[in-house]
Amino acid sequence: MESRTPSESKTILTDLVLPSETNPLNNLFGGELLARMDRAASIAARRHSRRIVVTASVNHVAFNKMIPLGSVVTVEAKISRAFKTSMEIFIDVWVEDRESGICSKANEAIYTFVAVDEQGQPVPVPQVVPESAQEKERYDAALRRKQLSLVLAGKIKPSEATELKALFT
Ligand SMILES: CC(C)(COP(=O)(O)OP(=O)(O)OC[C@H]1O[C@@H](n2cnc3c(N)ncnc32)[C@H](O)[C@@H]1OP(=O)(O)O)[C@@H](O)C(=O)NCCC(=O)NCCS
Repeated sequence: MESRTPSESKTILTDLVLPSETNPLNNLFGGELLARMDRAASIAARRHSRRIVVTASVNHVAFNKMIPLGSVVTVEAKISRAFKTSMEIFIDVWVEDRESGICSKANEAIYTFVAVDEQGQPVPVPQVVPESAQEKERYDAALRRKQLSLVLAGKIKPSEATELKALFT
């Protein structure tokens, strides 16, 4: 099966924070940001696999900075690694300063998507060829994160997580 680079499926969504999307402090509601990240990541996974994709797990989310009402928010989703049927997608969230136009990083997340057929059965996906230093770093550590996610989901035993064990032995 052919392989693709992360740049080929990179997805960028830019949108405003409207009043209906905020919490009582007038900052972006966490669930709204999760939905935006899920949307951008699912498009990246779909572009990479050219298949129907479903969210299998949210492996990591860090809400590091509050995002005020009226902000311009950019969600950037990029595939880091594909396994057999699953794909790890990194999401970086940027907030644009109105006066300077400079974007600063507000949040990040890592989601796992699975490509499926019309019946919802997992199907194989193309492999990822990382190019930049950051893409290579994320690719190399992805198997470790996959095993951790599977251990936490109770889908494999800790003793089967070879990459995690290698960190401690
Ligand atoms: C995701 C789903 C397709 C997985 O199906 P499954 O029968 O468990 O299939 P498998 O066990 O073969 O897993 C498929 C792949 O997902 C990976 N996977 C499953 N759960 C995972 C998890 N929690 N973390 C990381 N990877 C996971 C498996 O390791 C496997 O990867 P690989 O083929 O690349 O090695 C299935 O659970 C599903 O349809 N879930 C609902 C998805 C959905 O509706 N999402 C929207 C939420 S509202």
